[in-house]
Amino acid sequence: MHFPLAGTPQICQVECLPPFVSPDQLDPQLQTFLEEATSRLCNWLGSATQRGPLPALSVLPEVAPSFEGRSAENLLEDLQLVMDGSYHPSHPGALAHLDPPPLTASIAADLICAGLNNNLLAEELSPSLSRLEREICRWFSERIGLPKESGGVAASGGSLSNLMALVVARKQAGKEFDQTGVVLASEDAHVSIAKALNVMGLSGDSLYKLPTNQEGKVSIEALKDQLETFRSVGKKCFALVATAGTTVRGAIDPLAALGELCTREEIWFHVDGAIGGVFAIPQKTAPLLEGISKANSVTVNPQKVLGITKTSSLLLVADRTHLVSTFSTGLPYMEPAWGDAHGGELGLQGTRSAEVLKLWLGLRQLGDKGILDLLEGAIERRCYFQNKLDTSRFDLISGPLHLIAFTPKCLDEHESAEWSLLARKTLLDKQFMLSRCRYKGRHYLKAVLGNPHTQTMHLDKLENLLNKTLKN
Ligand SMILES: Cc1ncc(COP(=O)(O)O)c(C=O)c1O
Repeated sequence: MHFPLAGTPQICQVECLPPFVSPDQLDPQLQTFLEEATSRLCNWLGSATQRGPLPALSVLPEVAPSFEGRSAENLLEDLQLVMDGSYHPSHPGALAHLDPPPLTASIAADLICAGLNNNLLAEELSPSLSRLEREICRWFSERIGLPKESGGVAASGGSLSNLMALVVARKQAGKEFDQTGVVLASEDAHVSIAKALNVMGLSGDSLYKLPTNQEGKVSIEALKDQLETFRSVGKKCFALVATAGTTVRGAIDPLAALGELCTREEIWFHVDGAIGGVFAIPQKTAPLLEGISKANSVTVNPQKVLGITKTSSLLLVADRTHLVSTFSTGLPYMEPAWGDAHGGELGLQGTRSAEVLKLWLGLRQLGDKGILDLLEGAIERRCYFQNKLDTSRFDLISGPLHLIAFTPKCLDEHESAEWSLLARKTLLDKQFMLSRCRYKGRHYLKAVLGNPHTQTMHLDKLENLLNKTLKN
């Protein structure tokens, strides 16, 4: 007779999914369960246009586990409830944020990643995946023109990549115990920069926001003036953050000029390319980011445009030894790393999943041509829509990428807030989801045109609906 060991969850009756699969043989129950779960997912993915970008109803499933575990059937029903209440990035009208439809190879890689359950903390827990992460960071670094000493680490999102970049910058400036350090960024830089400085124990005054010009790019003149002021009062700026793709309009700061200035002034040059960084990969779009190769560190978020499933962000550094010298405390309970350092010594995270798998497989699926097609397609959609919008009725703000924001002419702050609220609702009723943002004192609607399912007929309809939101 077989008695389960104390503490081993009892494998229950028929219909019940075993908590852990047999290590000796293929488990048909797991296989059936995964097939059923993926079939439900495929149905969900394939029913976007019947559902709309936002669900009509979002029901919170029962949260607490029941005393007896749920059957396989019940678990699938639980999953279905969550799916039915989810945002649908694959709907052609899902244009609100930087959340494109998931790339197919990336979905499969995410599932495999869960099954492998390797840990990027240390090489002995992820032998092939640790190397894969190192190599993919090198590949990215090379493509964007960083020197051969460059490398990087994956992070769960751009906010974390930006935080780690600034921690490295401060350490390299020898200011890690100094509360007087300051950082320069444009007024349009992402909020994660201010958040990073807070987390680093620096006061709100440590972030100097430089004005942006008509094109949404940082003003070099204002930057030079600010550096002069710092010099006169003996302040030392430990990093300049340039944005390659601002959150509201996708503007790109003048990277080449900023890079040169930082080299001259010996200031760490960080490029937040969470949105625009991937455009540096294809030769054809790389000129948009001219000068990115001068960066000391770069954040890229393949989750935002390429459809790599969330989360997928990389922090790349021109000298990869800077990651180790900043974050390594040693891992005395692990075998030594085979490469430069363990994955857990290159950044803030310890245990982490192998996010690199879905990035790697996704890029392999797309190929260079597919990457270019996606990026160019996104820009073309923005150009098409921009040309359609009536500039005698709307003020438009955009940049060279795939983001555009607009607001009716001649409205003040209050009126633009009202319009954007109402217009967003009207559009949602017609299955177009745009986002509202406040920019330089007025409210705008923003469209992010990275969704490959959005066709010209959808943009024509959107433009038509927008015109109807205006008073004659
Ligand atoms: C320019 C920019 N940087 C950083 C981030 C933060 O990235 P994440 O949301 O992955 O943390 C965003 C998010 O939208 C962004 O627009």
